[in-house]
Parts: sequence; structure tokens; C-alpha cells
Amino acid sequence: MSYRSLLLCTAFTLPTVYTLDAHALSNGDYEQAAKQQFNTSARAPCISGFPCFAISNQYPVSPLASTPHFPWSATNYKSDPQKYMAEVLSYVVEGNTEVDWELQRNSVRRWYHAPWMHEKREPVHGLTMERGSRLHELGPNQTRRTSNWAVGFYNDLGGSTFGKVWQGSVRPSTTSAVFPVGTVTAKLLFTDATDSEAPYLKGNNLQWQADIAGNGQPKSLRLLQMDIAVKEQADATHSGWVFATFVFNGSRGAANYWDNLIPVGLEWGNSPGFTYADYQAGKRPEESWINPEAKALFAKRAPDDQLGYLARMNGPVDSPLSSCMSCHSRAMDTRGKPGPDFNPKPADNCLEVIKPSGSINETYGRVPGCVVNEVAVAPFYRNLQSNQPFTPGFNSLDYSLQMAMGVASWNAWTKKNYPTVFKTNSTTFKLKSFSVEAPASMKIPLVPAEQAFHRGN
Ligand code: HEC
Repeated sequence: MSYRSLLLCTAFTLPTVYTLDAHALSNGDYEQAAKQQFNTSARAPCISGFPCFAISNQYPVSPLASTPHFPWSATNYKSDPQKYMAEVLSYVVEGNTEVDWELQRNSVRRWYHAPWMHEKREPVHGLTMERGSRLHELGPNQTRRTSNWAVGFYNDLGGSTFGKVWQGSVRPSTTSAVFPVGTVTAKLLFTDATDSEAPYLKGNNLQWQADIAGNGQPKSLRLLQMDIAVKEQADATHSGWVFATFVFNGSRGAANYWDNLIPVGLEWGNSPGFTYADYQAGKRPEESWINPEAKALFAKRAPDDQLGYLARMNGPVDSPLSSCMSCHSRAMDTRGKPGPDFNPKPADNCLEVIKPSGSINETYGRVPGCVVNEVAVAPFYRNLQSNQPFTPGFNSLDYSLQMAMGVASWNAWTKKNYPTVFKTNSTTFKLKSFSVEAPASMKIPLVPAEQAFHRGN
């Protein structure tokens, strides 16, 4: 074989990434070490006498041939959000409650965890730390910063995207990160809030032990919130993602804990262009639905007594300065570079962090006489398409912050332990072809990627 045809053959049969990796892998043990990380479930070994979290990561590599019909397929999420949410909820709990969310034992359908989050997962249920609740966010009597923990998972359609991105379990190929219609993801959020801090948690609730202190002595947590996100058909202005959340309300008195979950709200877009002036004029974001019954439980959430920013949809555990889709639209592969902060700079939206005297917890206040810098706030409330990155030059991960967190952890680990592999990956990285200009004025605060794709403290 001539030198020329050998070159041609190599170029033809092997994608560039792999050709170059042959050099990077003079590191030898890289692949084996990366696979081992990929298959690691939690940050510490299991604790005897407690359940033992095992990651469900046998992702399907090819998506299903056709989109199956779902119970909610005929329900309009904009005009009938409550029915839509109930239908998705039954699909999520089916087969999972019987096995206490040990996904591998579900006999109805398959569910998957996201990989490379193991350094953050405690070993009993695979929970990762979520944002702690600020003053009064969970209820008028809650002053302490509560500890909140969660675990999320994807159905088979969602799992197939993880399979494509992590094919070979060694390095992520984020050009393939687009979730098919029919993807469902859900997340259970637990809290250590007491009955007096969050009275609605009382009743027939789901209680889990988890090693949140990392000392091998699990503590009790109760279910506070359940998040769901469903991929519907995209249109010219929307990705197709529908985000919704439930809160546990024991006063419902149902025998099954999941029947005590009441809808908090649903959003299918960021309501771009909705300003503080609109809010003050009494208007409300058009792409959010909030359930008044749930809203009544959370009457004192500073700065505006709303669940999300300017009454956009967000959950009880979430920041009132954000919204589900605002935060999730930042999901990207930044190749180890910093990522966009959660929110605009406080001064841009006239907000300040306040620590009332004698309090150990923070809250937010509006700066009097300040005019909101809407140009700086707007980039956080765009309706990005699945392939459109929040920041140009990076790959969008289609609203999946678990994928973003995993990819960020992989980058950090590789950078530290296998710098050659890290460097090669950064240079051979392929950008998705899709590109839409970001606003010229966009100046987003940056934070380390691993922090940007965390839910905050
Ligand atoms: C301030 C940022 C932030 C906000 C606001 C937020 N999330 Fe997330 N969410 C995250 C992060 C970070 C993860 C991944 C890490 C984890 O699971 O804790 C995540 C994970 C999830 C997952 C698992 C799949 C995935 O996309 O990674 C779902 C489902 C989800 N969130 C739904 C919601 C819903 C519904 C809301 C609004 C009620 C919401 N989130 C609000 C940051 C946020």
C-alpha cells in the first residue's frame, strides 16, 4: 500500500478525533481509568445496613425508530397544564415507586442516571447537593438555611442521547447532544426542613436516609419537590422543552405519597422581552403557568414574593431570581473553560443580597431608585433552540445540566490527570454547525464550569 493510499484510508475510516487520540493515548492507561470513572456510582463506598446506590448507565446506543405514543401526547400543555402534568407524573412513578426508585429494578420501563456525577453523589441514594433555601423560601417560619438534595434520571429516549454522547464511555462527543421528542427526565428533591419550617411536608411522605454529611451516618430527608422536563416538538421559536414541577402537600391526605404531589407550575419558554416595568404594571409572563394553590404555600419569597424571576415559573427549592428554563438554557460543553453564571449581576437587575441582623441566612432585596438594566438581563431569558449555545463558541447540551455537569467533571478530571488527552480533546472538538448570533451587548459573568452547572449552594 502506498503512503498516499494509507493516508486516504485512515482519513476515510476513522473520525479525526480517534486518529489524533492515538497520540494522546501514549498515556496508556487513560481509557481504562476513564471507563472506571464512568462506571463509578458515588463518592464513597456503600454503607452497611443502608440501600446502595448503583448508577444505571447501560444507555441504549440507538434511539427508538419511531416516537412512541405517550399518555400526554394528546394533551395541550399550554391550555391544560394540570392534566398534562398528571399524565407525565403517572408515567414517571410507574414501576419506580414499587422499587423505591432503584431504576434497574423497574419492571415497566427503563430509566438512566447521568454519568460523571459520582464525585458529587452520596452513596445511599446517589443524591447530589442542591441549593440551600434562603430565608422564608420554604415557608414563613423557615429561617435556617435548609439542606436540600436530589437525584434525577432519564427515560430510554433521553438515555439514548447519553449513549451517543458517551459512546465507548471514554470521552464525550457533544456534537451529538440533542434529545429526541419523547425524552422525559425527572428529579426528586429532598430536604431536611422540619414540620415547622415547611408544614406541608407533614403527612404520608417519602422519607429517605442519605449520607449528606459524608461521615457514614445517614440522615433523614423528606421529599419536597419533583421536577419533570419533557421534550415536545420544537417550533420556529421554541426548543420543545416543557419544564414543570410539583411540591409535596400532605394536607391532600392521599395514601400514596406521589398522590400528594401538587403541581407548582409549568413553563414552555422564558417569556423573552418581559420586563420589570411589565411586571410592575401587573402583567405576568406569558410562557409560564403557576398553580394558585401552590403559590399560596410560598407567599414570602423575596424579593417579589414570587416563585421565579418576575413571576416566571420556578420551584420551591429554586432561586426566586431565576426560572427553570433560564438556568437550564445555559447547559453547554465549555471544554473546561468557565461557564455563564446563574443570573445577571445583582446590580443589573437592581437586587442585593441582604442578611438581616441576627440572621444566619440570606435573602434578597430590591435596590430603591434603581433602574433595571434590561439589556443585561435579557440574555438569560432567551428561548434558545436545542442546538443553540448560550455562549457562542461552545456546544449546547440541549438544556441538560446533568450532562453539562458530567462533561465539566470529565474535563476537570482529564485536565488534572491526563493533560495530553485534555489538550487533544480541546483542539479536535467539533462545534455543532448550528449557530445563532448572541446579542452583541452580552456580557455575562463567568464562573468555573463545574460551578456554573451546579444548582448553587
Ligand atoms: C439555578 C439553576 C437551576 C434552576 C433554576 C433549575 N434547575 Fe434543574 N437542574 C439544575 C442543575 C445544575 C441540574 C443538574 C445537576 C443536578 O441534578 O443537581 C439540574 C437538573 C435537573 C433535571 C435533571 C435533568 C437535567 O436537565 O439535568 C431536571 C428534570 C430539572 N433540573 C428540572 C428543573 C425544573 C422543572 C426546574 C424549575 C422548576 C429547574 N430544574 C430549575 C439547575 C437548575
